[in-house]
Amino acid sequence: MASCSTFNLSPSPKPTKPLPHSLLKPLIQEPETESRTQIQTPYPKLIITGPSKLSGHVPISGSKNSALPILAATLCCSGTSKIHNVPNLFDTRTMASVLASLGAKVEVFNNEMLVNTDGVDSVEPNSDEIRKIRGGFFVIGPLVARFGEAVVALPGGCNIGTRPVDLYIRGLQALGAVVDLRDGKVQAYAANGRGLVGGSFQLDYPSVGATETLMMAACMADGMTVLSNVAREPEVVDLARFLNDSGACVEGAGSNQLVIKGKPLLHGSECVIAADRIEAGTFMLAAAITRSCISISPVIPCQMSCLIHKLSAAGCKIRQYSHDTLEVSAVSRCGGENLQSFEVKTGPYPGFPTDLQPQIMALLTTCNGLSPVEESVFDKRMGHVSELLKLGAKIQVCASTALVFGKDNGSVLSGSSLVANDIRGGMSLVLAGLAAEGTTDISGVAHIDRGYENLDMKLHSLGADVKRLMPLAS
Ligand code: EPU
Repeated sequence: MASCSTFNLSPSPKPTKPLPHSLLKPLIQEPETESRTQIQTPYPKLIITGPSKLSGHVPISGSKNSALPILAATLCCSGTSKIHNVPNLFDTRTMASVLASLGAKVEVFNNEMLVNTDGVDSVEPNSDEIRKIRGGFFVIGPLVARFGEAVVALPGGCNIGTRPVDLYIRGLQALGAVVDLRDGKVQAYAANGRGLVGGSFQLDYPSVGATETLMMAACMADGMTVLSNVAREPEVVDLARFLNDSGACVEGAGSNQLVIKGKPLLHGSECVIAADRIEAGTFMLAAAITRSCISISPVIPCQMSCLIHKLSAAGCKIRQYSHDTLEVSAVSRCGGENLQSFEVKTGPYPGFPTDLQPQIMALLTTCNGLSPVEESVFDKRMGHVSELLKLGAKIQVCASTALVFGKDNGSVLSGSSLVANDIRGGMSLVLAGLAAEGTTDISGVAHIDRGYENLDMKLHSLGADVKRLMPLAS
């Protein structure tokens, strides 16, 4: 196999031994200072010349948001876990570094990761790595469950609103952990000095990350755990499948209640990361906004039903060719030149995914009519609006709702200079750039690269005119 690299990091200060309990003071009331992924460099830039017509087929990569918790879950397993179809992205590479900073052996072969956590000798992952992504924080669950304690910095991630970790903390407390927040780090240890114990916990909100973290912790807690009002996202189901294949006993994944029987230790297993439903949805929207016809695979069509429903109502034709292939057509013979407006309200699965809200908003600027778009998951996920306005879109934001005025109400997209500030908001600018007349240049592309593997190559293969401008070598 080609291009094999083994992470063997020497992270900045980390204890080689777990912190003694005496250093972990009782809970103090300290304001949560959450750092965010800071990627402000002007280069690389994407230069898009539109309007584009796309055609052909695009392969969908493995899901970033399935890969991250599954990589964290290898901390529950003895021996080697073999994870296939891991997208090669900043976030998955950062998660590999997080595991390596704990003493795990992580080998990367193209889209495959082999993780062996038998040599873990620390319960404090490198804080700089944790602060780069949201998913790094997930390790707190398996660490405290397996080793009795964990010290994990507050996470980073996209700047899309308040992203507290209170549900993680309260859930771990319900499983017998004492949790303390100090110096921007969450310190947790098993109150009985041995390990976590099964318990019941109801989440106030079905948080994806809290559900995944508590599921991992409960897999190794002593006894039975019942988690209610949990997230039902496909990524939660993928994680449960990996844990069960590794010897865990998780029932109810995909429903709003999980019943988990703890085991002392799981064993490594093999898994294939499922296709990324958000990348799939983004390419479906690329076909719609450019009034083109493309096919995508692999995709799990039932996971896409909200988006399929919206696109069909707008006037697109969606055909399923095989169990995992969809064709999206918005070309004029289907009446696609005049797509109609529709309403969007994001919500936890099976609601409309917040991770497609910015991209569908770009599409709505090209439809006829007025479209209200309500963001109900994150409180600040409208950062892309100011950039879409620079292209000529007409959008008014009032609290958590954006009113998108379609092309018959004056939205006419033409090229401009834009800045991407987060993964999905950045991708909405790429979609709008494909539809806009003239040249659009987008900086802050590193944000977009965090969620889309081989983006330029995939867009080229569909016929888009996209160039990447790299910084000049000094
Ligand atoms: N929340 C709390 N307390 C908590 C945790 C969450 O109040 O302890 C709130 C958040 O403030 C937010 C809501 O719950 O308002 C939803 O957050 P959630 O915890 O479900 O999101 P997450 O686990 O941090 C994951 C994905 C996000 C995706 C959301 C929602 C990963 C690594 N990230 O984040 O993906 O938007 O679920 O589906 O799995 C992306 O890929 O671009 C991305 C942001």
